[in-house]
Amino acid sequence: MRHPPEITPLFDGCCFFIYVKNTRRTGKAARGRFCNYPNLKKEDIMKTLIAYYSRGGATKKAAEGLQKITNGELFEIKGEKNYGNYFTALGVSRKEFSANELPKLVDQVRDFDSYDRILIGFPIWYSKCPQLILSFISQYDFSGKEVYPFCTSGMSGPENAVEQLKKACAGARVHSGLRLNKINEEKVRKWLNGGGQKHGQNT
Ligand SMILES: Cc1cc2nc3c(=O)[nH]c(=O)nc-3n(C[C@H](O)[C@H](O)[C@H](O)COP(=O)(O)O)c2cc1C
Repeated sequence: MRHPPEITPLFDGCCFFIYVKNTRRTGKAARGRFCNYPNLKKEDIMKTLIAYYSRGGATKKAAEGLQKITNGELFEIKGEKNYGNYFTALGVSRKEFSANELPKLVDQVRDFDSYDRILIGFPIWYSKCPQLILSFISQYDFSGKEVYPFCTSGMSGPENAVEQLKKACAGARVHSGLRLNKINEEKVRKWLNGGGQKHGQNT
């Protein structure tokens, strides 16, 4: 159908709006249709989940910073168990690691399948991710997801945890990890665009 030149931009604008609205809603479908719109940035249509665990608040702060940058949806991973203070957590988590226990969680992400990009955040415990994170991953189908691990820590980098996530998230593309003790928007954008940090670098 041909339109008079003065309404063509309006028509194109409406099509673009409907397209973005639909692809944001359909999640996985976004990737398939993306190739029809080469000028559209992939991040504009990727639906993002920021799932994090935080015992003391540092990772929660990082997750909230990421939420502002990505406009994703936040989900706090909560366990049934209370890890208590720093010293209690050292003992409780050590037992979990030795037993390879998957601690029980109290909540679930609604409509997990609709997300394309999953940012998973956690504090580093004994150079790894807390077992709770593996519990979280075991509950969902990660195939086809773009996974971005981020962490906070005293000084350890995310590299061991990234290897854990690569094994746990079957069928997903697990990107390099980001240590995010302090939010830095430029580094976050580089990380999400496939550049920036390599394993073990910090902000
Ligand atoms: C059980 C436990 C183990 C930890 N192990 C490490 C570690 O191996 N390397 C490190 O740099 N920090 C370690 N830390 C420090 C935390 O990673 C750091 O304080 C983190 O920012 C806490 O995040 P949160 O406030 O979100 O819980 C450990 C803390 C706890 C409680």
